[in-house]
Amino acid sequence: MTRIRSPKFQAKVMNADDAAAFIKNGDNIGVSGFTGAGYPKVLPGALADRIKAAQARGEEFRVGLYTGASTAPELDGVLAETGGLSYRTPYQSDPYMRNAINKGISDYNDIHLSHSGPQVRQGFHGPLGVAIVEVTAITEDGDLIPSSSIGNNNVYLDCAERIILEVNSWQSTGLEGMHDLYYGTQLPPNNVPIPITSPGDRIGQTTLRVNPDKVVAVVETDDADRNTPFKPLDEDSMAIAGYFLDFLKNEVKQGRIPKSLLPLQSGVGNIANAVLAGLLHSDLENLTSYTEVIQDGMVDLIDSGKLKVASATAFSLSPEYAVKMNDHAAEYRKSIVLRPQEISNNPEPIRRMGVISCNGLIEADIYGNVNSTHIMGTKMQNGIGGSGDFTRNAFISCFVTPSVAKDGDISCIVPMVSHHDHTEHDVMVVITEQGLADVRHLAPRKRARVIIENCAHPDYKDALLDYVDRAEKASALHTPHLLREALSWHARFVETGTMKA
Ligand code: COA
Repeated sequence: MTRIRSPKFQAKVMNADDAAAFIKNGDNIGVSGFTGAGYPKVLPGALADRIKAAQARGEEFRVGLYTGASTAPELDGVLAETGGLSYRTPYQSDPYMRNAINKGISDYNDIHLSHSGPQVRQGFHGPLGVAIVEVTAITEDGDLIPSSSIGNNNVYLDCAERIILEVNSWQSTGLEGMHDLYYGTQLPPNNVPIPITSPGDRIGQTTLRVNPDKVVAVVETDDADRNTPFKPLDEDSMAIAGYFLDFLKNEVKQGRIPKSLLPLQSGVGNIANAVLAGLLHSDLENLTSYTEVIQDGMVDLIDSGKLKVASATAFSLSPEYAVKMNDHAAEYRKSIVLRPQEISNNPEPIRRMGVISCNGLIEADIYGNVNSTHIMGTKMQNGIGGSGDFTRNAFISCFVTPSVAKDGDISCIVPMVSHHDHTEHDVMVVITEQGLADVRHLAPRKRARVIIENCAHPDYKDALLDYVDRAEKASALHTPHLLREALSWHARFVETGTMKA
């Protein structure tokens, strides 16, 4: 049966090149896609060809790109490679995109994921010319069944002047009913409470609304999401997961959180996946998750019966697990809810439900400030993503990282972070393979000792302890620092290739 069940939309079916002709130089384009799930598969390539053809004629053709979060080589990669992206927001993790950002070819506005949709609605980015959104199917009534991510699709469909839909038959029809589209969010002063009190609550409709008159093209595809395998669990990530689980169990023992914990948020990547694997082998049960992405580990937890429900905005699965999800989506939709990112990442339900957040970092300083985005303070790695949405509003906010980077040449625990994403006021727990620092009740001087003792690598511990000793002697102030030295810590790596003494 055709995936395009509405005759009105069938009449607009065309190939990608013809559809790309609706995109003009100077357009802002809002696309679907979140961590390699649910992004348009063929339009970006056709647009890249259009940009290159214009460049060959010596004509200017640049567009602004708005996504849910990171996408895939077929979207961020092909477009960044052309040099034709004037603007990019929010999170990305593509090597070509990163290069364009760091070289100043594309302006990058690295905003919180929960802010990105509302800011587009607010209109200060300028008009959104085009939305390109992948869907699983179009119903008889002209509603859209979303695919493997929602991200900002609801916002882009509402705000764009022209809409191009990609209907991807690779996406499972079993996804129908998994999504929860809440259309109650408004801009202030008309906003209303989001009535979510538990991760599995469904508060909206299962389809995306679209004005058919704005749809200029429908393109059919049959292509897999970018699903990357996770690295096998290594000793460090298993050690980090172990410390995190011991910490959670102790919180339960102390009566500070229930036996089933509180809803868990887990960041992207291998350590986050290891934490989930650790939960699988623990005796914890009746768990819930209010997070951004569903990773392999979460699917295992659902299969084991330990995880009762998971709320997110996208999948981020390995190829093997993506096939499994496609085959069994109709069963998984009983325990998975996919929401727009303005809801999955919204501070209001995160704070109300008391989410326990767990995210990766690039470096943390001895006082608990965290840099999640900039290598050596200047080079953009990926972006803040949803880490700020969750960290700032979590009941318990945790960060995980190996204690060293670049084969041990760089310490991830430093005197002063070279860029601030999360401040000491928001960061409660730091975990490395060396141990865990719970700094919730500590003043800066005590924080410094606990973070160094528990989290720093032995190769750097003495240098860091020596730094705080001397900083305390030199300053009787609240947060002791030797500013000149703190600021030159990173320069040591730049000059000698190592931070070691
Ligand atoms: N100094 C210099 N480089 C460092 C570093 C440090 N202190 N720490 C890490 N790096 C480098 C690594 O060597 C690696 O470099 P490479 O790409 O050249 O190999 C790169 O940074 C990524 O590090 P890696 O250890 O592979 O990190 P990761 O996959 O665990 O990701 C973050 C860590 C911080 C980059 C990632 O978690 C992120 O983007 N976070 C922000 C967004 C977020 O938290 N999203 C989830 C919210 S819901």
